[in-house]
Amino acid sequence: MTVKLLAIESSCDDTSASVIIDGKVCSNIVSSQDEHALWGGVVPEVASRAHIRLIVPVVNKALDKAGINIQDIDAIAITRAPGLLGSLHVGVSYAKALALARNIPLIEVNHMDAHIMANFIDEPQPNFPFLCLTVSGGHTQISIVRSHLDVEVLGRTIDDAAGEAFDKTGKVLGLDYPAGPLIDKKAQLGQAIYKFTEPNIPGLDFSFSGLKTSILYFLQKQVKLDPDFISNNLNDLCASVQSRIVSILMNKLVRAAEMTGIKEIALTGGVAANSALRDAMKARQENLGWNIYIPSISYCTDNAAMIGKYGYYKYLAGQFADQSMEASARVDE
Ligand code: KG4
Ligand code: ZN
Repeated sequence: MTVKLLAIESSCDDTSASVIIDGKVCSNIVSSQDEHALWGGVVPEVASRAHIRLIVPVVNKALDKAGINIQDIDAIAITRAPGLLGSLHVGVSYAKALALARNIPLIEVNHMDAHIMANFIDEPQPNFPFLCLTVSGGHTQISIVRSHLDVEVLGRTIDDAAGEAFDKTGKVLGLDYPAGPLIDKKAQLGQAIYKFTEPNIPGLDFSFSGLKTSILYFLQKQVKLDPDFISNNLNDLCASVQSRIVSILMNKLVRAAEMTGIKEIALTGGVAANSALRDAMKARQENLGWNIYIPSISYCTDNAAMIGKYGYYKYLAGQFADQSMEASARVDE
C-alpha cells in the first residue's frame, strides 16, 4: 500500500509544505519571511499574517512539485507545538479544514521531535539509541532517541537558545539579524582571545543569558577606553563569542555521551550550520570514536519534510489526531 502524506510547518517564520510518499521526500517547499530582518527579530503578528498569505501557494507548490493532486493525499501531518501560537494556529486551522473537507486523518507533530527526524531523510542515518543535539533560534536541547517514536529530553536551555545567543550577542556587536551566520564568517578571520566565563549549570541543562550580559559589560568597559574597540576587534570578538557558545554546547553533549555510553551522536537545527560547531563534532569523532550525523542544512532549518517524516512514522503506528486538536506554544500543554 502506498502512503501519500502532505506535511505542513508554520511554527515560527517559515511557511513550509512537503509531500512524503512511503516515507520518501518528494517535495519540500520553504518560504522564509524576510520581513522580520527589518525589526531585528521575528515579530509574531507579522509572522502570522505572512503564514496566512503564504500557506495556500506553498501547499500548492509542494503538490505540483511532487506531481500529485490534493485528492491523492491519504493524511495530513501538521506541527501542533511548540512555537509562536499565532503562527501555529494558521497551519493547524488550515490542516484541520483540509482534513475535514477531504475526510482524511490528521497527524499532530511535535516540532522538536521532528527536527530529530531530519536525520532519517538522507543517508547515513543514526542507529538507535542515539543522542541528538537540537540547536536553533528557538530551542536548545539534548535528547536520547530510542526509536522513531520514543524520544526523551535529557537537558534543555533554561533561558536563551543557542541561536538566540548568537543573534543577541551579534546585536550588541552591531551586527544585523540573524547574526549567527555573520559571527561564523567573521570568526573565521579572528582568534578567540577574549575568555568569557562558562556558566556553571548542573546536569545537562544549558544557559546562555549570562554570556550575553558578560559580553555587554565587557564591551561597555572597553568602549569607554577606546570608542572604536568593537570595530577594531570585531573578528576576534566574534571568534571569542562563537568559541564560548560552542564549548557550552559541546561540554554538555560530551557529558551526555559519557553518562549514557552512547557514541551515535546527531546534530540538527539552524545552528548546525555553524562551522566551529561542525568542526568540534568532527574532532570528537576522531578523539572519542563518535559516529556523527548532520543532515543537510536545508533539513536542519525549519522545513515540512521533517514534519512529514515524523508524521509517516506516526501514520504507520496508527497515531492520529482529531478535530479537537489545538495548537500550543509549549509541548506539554
Ligand atoms: O532552525 P532555524 O533556521 O530557525 C529556528 O530558530 O527555528 O535557526 C535559526 C538560527 C538563528 O538564530 C541563526 O542565527 C542561527 O540559527 N544560525 C547560525 C548559523 N546559521 C544560522 N548560528 C551560528 N552560525 C551559523 N552559521
Ligand atoms: Zn525549528
